[in-house]
Amino acid sequence: MESPVVRVGVIGGGFVGAALVQLLCDPTRSEALVDAATATVELVGVAVRDVAKPRPGIGLGLLTTDVDALIASDLDVLVEVAGGIEPARSYVESALKRGISVVTANKALMAESGTQLAQLAHEHGADLFYEAAVGGAIPILRALRSSLAGERITRVMGIVNGTTNYILTKMTTEGSDYGEALREAQALGYAEADPSADVEAFDAAAKVQILSTLAFGTRLGGEEIAREGITGVRIVDVDFAARMGYVIKLVGVAERVGETGISRRVHPAMIPVGHPLASVNGAMNAVFVEGVKSGPLMWLGQGAGGESTATAVLGDVLDAARNRISGRHDVPFTGDRSLHYVPASELSSPFYLSVDVLDRPGVLAEVASVFGRHDVSIQSMDQSGFGDEARLAFLTHEALSADVEATVKELIALESVESVGACIRVIDEGVT
Ligand SMILES: NC(=O)c1ccc[n+]([C@@H]2O[C@H](COP(=O)([O-])OP(=O)(O)OC[C@H]3O[C@@H](n4cnc5c(N)ncnc54)[C@H](OP(=O)(O)O)[C@@H]3O)[C@@H](O)[C@H]2O)c1
Repeated sequence: MESPVVRVGVIGGGFVGAALVQLLCDPTRSEALVDAATATVELVGVAVRDVAKPRPGIGLGLLTTDVDALIASDLDVLVEVAGGIEPARSYVESALKRGISVVTANKALMAESGTQLAQLAHEHGADLFYEAAVGGAIPILRALRSSLAGERITRVMGIVNGTTNYILTKMTTEGSDYGEALREAQALGYAEADPSADVEAFDAAAKVQILSTLAFGTRLGGEEIAREGITGVRIVDVDFAARMGYVIKLVGVAERVGETGISRRVHPAMIPVGHPLASVNGAMNAVFVEGVKSGPLMWLGQGAGGESTATAVLGDVLDAARNRISGRHDVPFTGDRSLHYVPASELSSPFYLSVDVLDRPGVLAEVASVFGRHDVSIQSMDQSGFGDEARLAFLTHEALSADVEATVKELIALESVESVGACIRVIDEGVT
């Protein structure tokens, strides 16, 4: 029997779009695709800005610059892999209003407008899938949405930005300083010429928004997320961390706080070397999920790259195609919206602080007394350097962030303290 046809249009013929076209047009896969989609997936067109650009693997007859005409061409599924907020959002809205299912890899768009777009999809009987928006090929969103839908998740913590993980890994394993490691990441194509979206953690924050929605049912867009990037991480702190049994990673965290609170944040963290996230190196991504009954779970894989990301996009296309054929669509995920946002200053954890001091007698006692005055108890202390290079590193017991902030403020005001070089949260729960 002839299989039904599902018509797919793609906006974007860059890294992800071109790799997706290759997967869709690969004759050795066509049977498998028909089986998975329960339909023949027909690629109708690929919209780009410039059709004259050479694009090996995409037939000239498929290319167009007329996105509106592509959307109007009786599509079943629109794939948005162009990126950015506008005009991507307008195109996605236009497709959803026509009842066309949308697959996107666009984390920025989903973090900003995901809830409204999901609602629009639902109203018009369409799907909105965005697996590739977090962790590239890692199927974490589907796992949260389906396999763990009934679990009470307590925390989602991930290394969700390959560029920053590459830079921090270089610093840890080769002793490169931040600038050297960034330049190498740029030379290898891991980091953009303007790296701020990655190193200032905007990209990771968008992914934490998306993970938080699926894990806890919080709304996408406009909600607070504390964000600190890696530009302040110094090689001296990476070395201290290693001596104390930790590695520094940029982590995105969404976690329950008590019964009714939620914390969402991205920041450098000291992770014990025995924690599964500590050994996630280079440009790899990993997402670590803790549930009340499931216990700890972890997904690891390529967080970026056209080909690996396209596999996640293709999975979504096949899901959307199957739904088209069966005449159903997924209901937007809703969860525990009653959770209130808890600012990072109200959280407790151990902290690492490094303090650049004048090399003279009595300084240690003076510095330690400041910790004591703010109820921050010291777990261990290390010191390095002499003269201008004298530096003290402290690991505290669990302490309230606000108390640690007050400690830092008072330390900076001391005449014997030149600067507080780092104040980094420690992830210290053992994982069994
Ligand atoms: N690359 C990855 O590893 C990765 C991983 C996960 C998620 N993503 C996400 O996937 C999306 C695409 O990423 P990418 O790396 O493939 O980007 P890219 O290489 O820059 O490709 C973007 C494509 O979109 C086209 N385009 C941009 N604006 C357009 C417009 N207004 N109308 C028509 N076409 C337009 C561009 O056309 P021209 O070629 O003519 O300029 C280009 O072909 C982004 O949202 C990104 O965040 C990427």
